[in-house]
Amino acid sequence: MKISFKKTSENTIKTDTLILPYYEDQPSDLYSELDELTGHLLKRVIDKKEFTGKTKQTTLIHIKGMDIDSILLVGLGKLSEVTGETIRQAGGQAMAFLSGKKTQDIALSTITFDLIEEKIDILLKPAHYFIEGALLRLYSFDKYKKKENNNEFTSMKILTDGKPIDLQTLELTVEATNFARDLVNTPSNDLTPTDLAESAKAISGKGIKVRILGKQQIEKEGMGAYLSVTRGSHEEPRFIILEYKKKREKPVVLIGKSITFDSGGISLKPSGGMEKMKYDMAGGAAVLGVFKAVAALDIPVNLIGLLPASDNMPGGSASQPGNVVKTVSGKTVEIINTDAEGRLVLADAIEYSIKKYKPRCIIDIATLTGACAVALGNEAIAMMGNNDDLMTALKRASDETFERVWQMPLYNEYKDYIKSDIADIKNTGGKSGSLVTAGYFLKEFAGDTPWAHLDIASTAWNDKVKPYLAKGATGIGVRLILQFLKGRV
Ligand code: BES
Ligand code: MN
Ligand code: ZN
Repeated sequence: MKISFKKTSENTIKTDTLILPYYEDQPSDLYSELDELTGHLLKRVIDKKEFTGKTKQTTLIHIKGMDIDSILLVGLGKLSEVTGETIRQAGGQAMAFLSGKKTQDIALSTITFDLIEEKIDILLKPAHYFIEGALLRLYSFDKYKKKENNNEFTSMKILTDGKPIDLQTLELTVEATNFARDLVNTPSNDLTPTDLAESAKAISGKGIKVRILGKQQIEKEGMGAYLSVTRGSHEEPRFIILEYKKKREKPVVLIGKSITFDSGGISLKPSGGMEKMKYDMAGGAAVLGVFKAVAALDIPVNLIGLLPASDNMPGGSASQPGNVVKTVSGKTVEIINTDAEGRLVLADAIEYSIKKYKPRCIIDIATLTGACAVALGNEAIAMMGNNDDLMTALKRASDETFERVWQMPLYNEYKDYIKSDIADIKNTGGKSGSLVTAGYFLKEFAGDTPWAHLDIASTAWNDKVKPYLAKGATGIGVRLILQFLKGRV
């Protein structure tokens, strides 16, 4: 879809559908001329309360005698309560309504947005959020479907006198998010660790260098915990390293959990819903998405990405509960449950990054625990860490992007939960505190390096549509971490 800015007025624009964002407490004269031209159709739906301007509301009005076929009213809620996110959701809702309706050319009125700019404190132009929501909602994953003759949107005209919106940044950010969503939606027969490595290589260039460690090199680096997870699968592991150095500083390290399929291993998961465990590499996909955007936007930062990719399968040589393995630093881990594999691969990646890169900070992003959904539902990332400044910065980025984070504690008492009788640490602490003991386990490997952990287990996948996110992979983390990085530079 081609997006452009046009100075034309709502009253004379030629388009299939004119989108009119509308408040619950809309000043009545705002569209009076347009209402006149439609023969007062606008006023009629509003007087009859068919449309009130509440959030998530959409109403289509067919028009005669003008250069527009129809007007789509989209609710923004009360003006005083508008946020970037309500506008984003309105954008998503508008596209959800128009999708599949043979609309090709759309125009967006921004008159109501001017009021927001006058009265509400938001970072970017309101239209920016609207377009972001619209573009995110247009994503669909149809790689495996017979091509339907979908009438796609061809153009969107933003009716404004050219107030600057950084369209390029917006489009590249959505593109990177959708890139991550494609990877996450792809089933594990088409996205093995080797395939994921190929996807990483495909984004190299523009300052991104990609290196892949195979099984023998992983062994040589002493990543015994990571290797223990890979043993039950015929698919070879790939430790994917991305380097992007556009600033002379200690690097920010991003580590993405990249389990291409999590069967649970010998501690096999129940079969119901197991198909979704293809999304256990959503953290890795988010890291790749961030790199793609950072390079496209030429953000001056020193960034390292690590994706310890592996299947978790119960093959004949799979790790067995009770096994003890050794991480990069020589710490021993007793594997109580082979389904707690994420923290094993992350522990080695964290220690590897500290040893090789002396990072300024580490952020790991991982679909780590089922308990994340128990605690927060599908609304927020569970954030834990050892550094308040880092977590505050992430919180700030989350307020802007609405990829919300909610901080969970890492009390010292949790140490006892994961005390092993025979090794330095064990990989599960039982049911109670399962979200935070997973975090605490990672903390033991981060040491003094500023580190934050983002558990995206309950937000990386939508079982139900959200205003601007279709079912399936959400691409969560890409916009959040990008915003975080932009905030730093
Ligand atoms: N990948 C899962 C966590 C998960 C569950 C992600 C549901 C997305 C949706 C992780 O590897 C796992 O199996 N965690 C276990 C840990 C337990 C054995 C301590 C869990 O949370 O059940
Ligand atoms: Mn698991
Ligand atoms: Zn997992």
